[in-house]
Amino acid sequence: MNDLIPPHGGQLSERLVRGHEREQMLHQARSLPSLTLDEWELSDIELFGIGALSPLEGYLSEADYDSVVDRMRLADGTIWPIPITLSLTQEEADVWRQGLDIALKGPDDQVVAIVHDPELFPYNKLVEARLVYGTTDSSHPGVARLLSQGPYYLGGRVSVLSLPRHEDFLPYRLTPAQMRQEFRARGWRQVVGFQTRNPIHRAHEYLLRCALEIVDGLMVHPLVGQTKSDDLSPQVRMRCYEALVGGYLPKERTVLVVNPASMRYAGPREAVFHAIIRQNYGCSHFIVGRDHAGVGKFYGPFDAQRIFERFTREQLGVTPLCFDNAFFCRVCEGMATSKTCAHPATERVSLSGTAVRQLLADGKAPPPEFTRPEIAEILKETYVGQT
Ligand code: ADX
Ligand code: MG
Repeated sequence: MNDLIPPHGGQLSERLVRGHEREQMLHQARSLPSLTLDEWELSDIELFGIGALSPLEGYLSEADYDSVVDRMRLADGTIWPIPITLSLTQEEADVWRQGLDIALKGPDDQVVAIVHDPELFPYNKLVEARLVYGTTDSSHPGVARLLSQGPYYLGGRVSVLSLPRHEDFLPYRLTPAQMRQEFRARGWRQVVGFQTRNPIHRAHEYLLRCALEIVDGLMVHPLVGQTKSDDLSPQVRMRCYEALVGGYLPKERTVLVVNPASMRYAGPREAVFHAIIRQNYGCSHFIVGRDHAGVGKFYGPFDAQRIFERFTREQLGVTPLCFDNAFFCRVCEGMATSKTCAHPATERVSLSGTAVRQLLADGKAPPPEFTRPEIAEILKETYVGQT
């Protein structure tokens, strides 16, 4: 009873293999056909390795893929919103041999994983784009990536032999199992997870505070895998998160950990995916605000909240904490949403990303109603550094 929420599907599925078994597989890999992964694909390998994609054991089979795209469920009925797949070009597909495992290598040519009993299947890009991203428009970064992929997918169980090596954020690279241990050590049972890929501002902070009022602890979990080129670098964003977590939130109730995943920008479906990943880390709750994981105007501002209404608690254990658009109100002299503030829009400070970039380009810091001064300084410095 008095324990953390179980992982999605019941058990952590850590695909990282260690010790003697790993040695054997590394040896075996030398005589297997191999494929080379890019950075994006490596981040999926890392997620498999640490159990963040539980209960998946590897890349989706054709039956699971069709079911995920079509009805957001694995073939056995488990909720799964985003296809986790490895695409192959025609040339790469030629290495596939019925009955032979395939070794996966990193850009440095080292073997990172093996796909067991791989299955090769063609797929329909436009159907995947329409159902998963809600659009076939190639100006959507997730769709653009999908359209540029090879025409086959490789399904199969994955054994991870080495996690990608990182030089940055090492103290923040904790696994779901490690976080579960940490939450237990802190005596937390209800933990809220927070996804972000942007420099943290006061609307974010407001959601964090509201959530912290009702649960035992908070895991700030910025995504540091690949993002679109005009998103701010994870290095700068991490400095902002450190400033907020270190300077404004209680240490005893907050942890900062990075999520190695890459961004898909799939809006509603990605919100469910984000929630499941955090459940695997031990979060009972997950914050979903305005236009979660959205890009441009592809999704309605609250579509990513409504999608959760389609699942029962038995199907999806993690509880979404949904928030309206947050802003600073000059009359209230504080953060609020339309649910809690009586004043007109003219009293509300909210800045678009473009407006913030314009301020920074003019050498000005965004106002304290929008972002904390320490964070404004970091952004200003970086911007000067860039031009
Ligand atoms: S994203 O990956 O979810 O797009 P981002 O950093 O932009 O990351 O947002 C993090 C979280 O804060 C998301 O749940 C998003 O919906 C929420 N959010 C961002 N800005 C606001 C705001 N002004 N009001 C309410 N929620 C917000
Ligand atoms: Mg956003």
